[in-house]
Order: sequence, then structure tokens, then C-alpha cells
Amino acid sequence: MSEGKQFLITGGAGFIGSHLAQACLSHGHRVRVLDNLATGLESNLEGMDVDFVQGDVRDEALLTRIMQGVDGVFHLAALPSVPRSVKDPYASHDNNITGVLKVLIAARDAGAKMVFAGSSSAYGDTEVLPKNEDMPVRPLSPYAVTKVAGEQYLQVFARVYGMPTAIVRYFNVFGPRQRNDSPYSGVIAKFCRAALEGEVCKIEGDGLQSRDFTYVADAARGTLLAMEKEVPGGEVINLAGGNRISLLDLVSSLSKLCGREVGIQHVADRPGDVKHSQADVNKALRLLGFETEYSFDEGLEKTLEWYKKEHPAPC
Ligand code: UD1
Repeated sequence: MSEGKQFLITGGAGFIGSHLAQACLSHGHRVRVLDNLATGLESNLEGMDVDFVQGDVRDEALLTRIMQGVDGVFHLAALPSVPRSVKDPYASHDNNITGVLKVLIAARDAGAKMVFAGSSSAYGDTEVLPKNEDMPVRPLSPYAVTKVAGEQYLQVFARVYGMPTAIVRYFNVFGPRQRNDSPYSGVIAKFCRAALEGEVCKIEGDGLQSRDFTYVADAARGTLLAMEKEVPGGEVINLAGGNRISLLDLVSSLSKLCGREVGIQHVADRPGDVKHSQADVNKALRLLGFETEYSFDEGLEKTLEWYKKEHPAPC
């Protein structure tokens, strides 16, 4: 795909979506954003020349209208969080599965390519690490089910309708603009807040669980590549650095950055949690020429700096 296309980003006012909007604009593309502001914030798009539409991905009439002239759709709108989905599986199902199907149909009818934000949660607790895209999916939570269903819809639409589609599997994306004010916020957002406010980090379980934490600018760049490059329809591609950091390591890194020991408190394990997550990143390199640019420590430093500026508090 050449430069200067019209893209639609669902969930574009959200954390990852707003970074993706920025990446698209800096590559000379035009951006329309659809967001219901359930978890996104219009202020995330401040200073960006985007066409913002407030609305829901389940509104078919609206979708048909805003799909006009769109070359490619990034479908990022979703209700995130494993524990939220355990508490209210129907809400996750309706937003994420009904949502992806409606957007797919509208994108197909508009002749647009679609890239879907999948999740490493699809792998579940496979013993083998790193996790590669050929492994069978084993969702452990309703959230993971919704993300797997979305992937499968994109694969079926590629097969049945010949629609160009691609799936990027994100691995615990973190960085500036990730919300830290909800019980469902990601662990790095929450722990940065705790560190800055002099609170303890509440570790669910022993803290030895590990994640392939991916800095948001890398995730956004890889997602744009999945749109710009010709990839076989319905291809699933891990987007991550291929490393694994435990929660205890995360707290030590925060302690170093803050110049003092950040306290921890162990609390109960989380139902539906995955113990270890680490991506095989060979396919992203082969198909997209994608490699992360930020190390975990660089990303964490930038993230903590951002939270410090946003919410000044003693570190
Ligand atoms: C999962 C997906 C991730 C997806 C995200 C969407 C996996 C491996 N990852 O993230 O790709 O983007 O859902 O929401 O499935 N924790 C604490 N204390 C806290 C918060 C979290 O100890 O206050 C622990 C959790 O129990 C978990 C780890 O930190 O072991 C990461 O949790 P979280 O940041 O919520 O992300 P995942 O559920 O791993």
C-alpha cells in the first residue's frame, strides 16, 4: 500500500489508538477516528489533525456513513481487561465480538483492508516459550475468547470474501497515555502511579509471572506496517520485543528509576491469569521487517516521565 491513504481507526482516542493515529499522520495518511469514549479520551488526540467521530462500533448506520472513502480500517475499539471480562463477560462479548463483526461487514462493503488488534491472551498458558503464531489458541478468559473470535472472523472474511485482512497480536503494551485510574488499568500504569504516589505495588500472586511488555510507539509502528505491507489475508502476527520481564523485575526497575525502594504487597492470584508470556518475533521480522526500537528500560523511563508530568507527585 502506498503513502497518503485514508484510514479509519476505531478506538482511535484510546491509548494505543491515539499513538497509531500519530504514526499514520506522520506517514502522510489521513485519519478518521471512531470512538465511544468508554475508555478513550478526546484529549489523547490533542494537536493531531484527525477527523473525530464520537460513536459506537455497534452502530451500523454510523459505520456505513463513516466508511465512505476509507482505504483501510484499524479495528482497535474494544473493552480491554481480563478481570473486567471475568466480572461481566457479556459486555466484553457485545463490545468486542459484535463490534468486530459489524466493523468487518462495513469494511468489506466499502472495499477496505482491515487490521485487527489481537492479543497475546489468545495463547493462554502454553508451556512452550516463546509463543509462535502456529500454536493452537487456548483462551483462559472471556476477554481472550473475544480476541480469538475477532481474529477468526478476519481469517474467515479473507477466505470467504477475499477481503485483505491482517491481525496483530499485542503483548502487554505500555506507555504514555495508558490510563492508570481504573481497577482494570494495565499493571505498568498502576505500578507507575503507586511508585509516584509513594504507595505499594499490589502484586497478584508471587510476582514471578512475566510479560513481553511492549512500548506503545513500537506497537503502533508495527500495526501501521501490517496495513501498509501486502501480507497474505488473515495472517496473525505477534508484535513484541521477544523478551520476558517478571513483575518483581518491573518493581526493581521502577525502584532504580525513582532512586528509592518501591514497596510491594502480595495479594491473591487473579482468576484467568496467564503465568508467562513471551513472543516469538520471527514472523513480524519476516513479513513486516518489524523489530522493536525501544528496550523495556527505555520504554519504562519514558512512561514514568510522562506520568510524572501528567500527575506531579513526589517520586
Ligand atoms: C492481557 C493480555 C494483553 C492485553 C490485556 C488487555 C496476556 C498475557 N496479556 O494482559 O496482551 O493487552 O490483557 O487488558 O494475556 N497485576 C498485578 N497487580 C495489578 C495489576 C496486574 O499483580 O495491580 C498482574 C496480573 O495478575 C497479571 C499481570 O500483572 O499477572 C499483568 O496484568 P495486566 O496488566 O492486567 O495485563 P494482562 O492481563 O497480562
